[in-house]
Amino acid sequence: MTHVLKFATVLSAMIFLGAAAQAQDCPVSITEPFDLEAADIASIYDCIGDKMPEGYSKGGDMVAKDYRNWTVTGTRHGVAGAHGNRLLMTYANDIAAEQYLKFAEDGVMMPVGSILAKESIKINKKTQAAVVGPLFIMTKLEAGAAAETNDWLYGGIQPNGKPMKFRQAFCHDCHSSWEDQDFLAYPLEEVRVGN
Ligand code: HEC
Repeated sequence: MTHVLKFATVLSAMIFLGAAAQAQDCPVSITEPFDLEAADIASIYDCIGDKMPEGYSKGGDMVAKDYRNWTVTGTRHGVAGAHGNRLLMTYANDIAAEQYLKFAEDGVMMPVGSILAKESIKINKKTQAAVVGPLFIMTKLEAGAAAETNDWLYGGIQPNGKPMKFRQAFCHDCHSSWEDQDFLAYPLEEVRVGN
């Protein structure tokens, strides 16, 4: 009898875990982002890729709706460490693409109207699943429009389509490390398009 009960408990636990796994976005076996190989990242992206713009667009944001039609700047998602160890992929709009893809290191001045949109995937270690992270956005405004951030406007969209709230300085303080590159950090060298 105890045996049967135990079996029933295990069974219901399995059903429960099964249900949890379904609610998760995409199960992963490797939960340390820095240990993910290109193939692991490809299969995560296969699972989660379509859900990203779907979620970001829910609030009607124009960048969220459009960015996947822009120029992709990486050969795959990279794990740079910054941005919460997430898997990152940046897209450049038509105004930004030519200059951005040079990945130039000196005297860079991005044209007004440049937009960089960086989608992100978070590995949730607890649930062992890859989940959609925020869409991070940088927009180059007209000269003098935002003196404190060198005319960059930082924005972010949550996976549910709602705007993120943060201070501009939170983003710009870190991006200030790349002043000669017009405050752009660029993808990791190993995943840059054309490298
Ligand atoms: C601790 C440092 C740090 C902070 C804080 C930070 N970033 Fe970044 N950001 C980076 C690095 C490093 C990269 C390049 C990594 C990559 O894309 O692989 C990057 C890249 C980006 C890009 C792609 C354009 C580029 O620089 O090449 C955007 C867009 C972006 N960040 C937006 C934001 C926004 C919006 C915030 C604030 C909510 C923010 N960042 C905060 C370090 C930071």
